[in-house]
Amino acid sequence: GASWKLADHPKLPKGKVIGLIVLDGWGEADADQYNCIHVAETPTMDSLKKGAPEKWRLVKAHGSAVGLPTEDDMGNSEVGHNALGAGRIFAQGAKLVDSALETGKIYQGSGFKYIKESFETGTLHLIGLLSDGGVHSRLDQVVLLLNGAAKHGAKRIRLHVLTDGRDVLDGSSVGFAETLENELAKLREIGVDAQVASGGGRMYVTMDRYENDWEVVKRGWDAQVLGEAPHKFRNSVEAIKKLRTEAKATDQYLPPFVIVDDSGKPVGPIVDGDAVVTFNFRADRMVMLAKALEYADFDKFDRVRVPKIRYAGMLQYDGELKLPSHYLVDPPEIDRTSGEYLTYNGVHTFACSETVKFGHVTFFWNGNRSGYFNDKMEEYVEVPSDSGITFNVQPKMKAVEIAEKARDAILSGKFQQVRVNLPNGDMVGHTGDIEATVVACKAADEAVKIMLDAIEQVGGIYVVTADHGNAEDMVKRNKTGQPALDKSGNIQILTSHTLQPVLIDGFCFCLSRFQLQLEGPGLAPGVRFRKDLPSGGLANVAATVINLHGFEAPADYEPSLIEVVDN
Ligand code: 3PG
Ligand code: CO
Repeated sequence: GASWKLADHPKLPKGKVIGLIVLDGWGEADADQYNCIHVAETPTMDSLKKGAPEKWRLVKAHGSAVGLPTEDDMGNSEVGHNALGAGRIFAQGAKLVDSALETGKIYQGSGFKYIKESFETGTLHLIGLLSDGGVHSRLDQVVLLLNGAAKHGAKRIRLHVLTDGRDVLDGSSVGFAETLENELAKLREIGVDAQVASGGGRMYVTMDRYENDWEVVKRGWDAQVLGEAPHKFRNSVEAIKKLRTEAKATDQYLPPFVIVDDSGKPVGPIVDGDAVVTFNFRADRMVMLAKALEYADFDKFDRVRVPKIRYAGMLQYDGELKLPSHYLVDPPEIDRTSGEYLTYNGVHTFACSETVKFGHVTFFWNGNRSGYFNDKMEEYVEVPSDSGITFNVQPKMKAVEIAEKARDAILSGKFQQVRVNLPNGDMVGHTGDIEATVVACKAADEAVKIMLDAIEQVGGIYVVTADHGNAEDMVKRNKTGQPALDKSGNIQILTSHTLQPVLIDGFCFCLSRFQLQLEGPGLAPGVRFRKDLPSGGLANVAATVINLHGFEAPADYEPSLIEVVDN
């Protein structure tokens, strides 16, 4: 088997404390009023950028650089943190599902064969995010799967849709629902009983993550499994339109609804003998529902009725928990991550974020694996997030608390890697509230300062980077980079990660500064960014950090971004 022992770096010392800061949703874009990072007071980040030019650079954070199908795919936290932690580029869920559908392999796999056993007498339920965002799911994949399942014998199909407005423009759910309803109508014409059965906004129904708020999953369960919801409609397009206008809800926060028949009866509760597929390929926001669907022992909320179903995920979402046990497409095998290597090479790691991003610096960082590699070498600390709010209400979030935990870890002398995710730019950016996002960026900057001061104190090294853009561009742009206007002449607020590849998306801001004034055991003064890796991306960061810990990176990692020149 592979040896876990890393070779010594010929020039860089071991034992330095590295503060590894991931600013979530912090990209680099032209300065204008919709660039919240530019508008906000961010003296710490500004000062880093004013430093020696060989100490910071841009890195790619989207498209093929992070294993996504095309260069039009914006980056996201899953693929970004996977790349940062694993040091290699893996074909990601979106791409793996595309090819499984294209080749038809999905229908030959054990996961599909398993759910197929229910097709004769039961209903096939498909649950997931109705969106073409490509972050958690893609509508075109759902349409292919729907038709493929019908071709392979599914006679009764029910869709449980979660509306987006977070990876795509708010309001776009109506169009996605129309597309879906058209597909379902076509299936009905050929004799398949196919309908939408329930729905709700992704942030309010089902798609919570890292166990921040089980109520969100319960709301979904009630509608999807029990067929109970406060709102009842005859079809999904009507539901979304009415809830948007009458309940004044945005796509992300639509209340749960069920679709009912002529007699007012829900058309698709999940019952014994049915098959269920959660069609999101991304893990974080499906794990909680997967647990509710799969675990016999479950106490997070009262499920009331636990149907005996055949359940499969689009992918397996958690490689450690092996959850779910059945899945349609093999997940990327993200092995030998940098975090695991460090545990075999004497590097003690501390990782911290608040709940809503906690799994990003642990689970995603470690290749979609929950838990420790070695609990003697690692400590993970979760700062509880506020739950039940939209983060524009509390844009400072827990940035300072995270930074203080990291500061204490840095000063404790117990850890050589102290890693955090600062969520503000992303979580507040997703609300589309520009003023609040400005406050969020300032708060993140202050948190960076707390950590950098501690790093200075211990003579350490800091690496500041991001996983993808968001807060640096809050408006939809046209091809020339101007705000794109809608039919009524209004700008369209961008809640998503950034989209325009030419302008900004694609470059995530990777700042690395090293303490050059160190003497003796300090960092070699000749460390600088290599000039021969202009298109370096997030996957190059792991080898870089391993070098800074005093080791050569594993041979198959993407190359390190730094070199050490002799002075
Ligand atoms: C979400 O899940 O909140 C968004 O779809 C993506 O955001 P993230 O990739 O920054 O987590
Ligand atoms: Co985000």
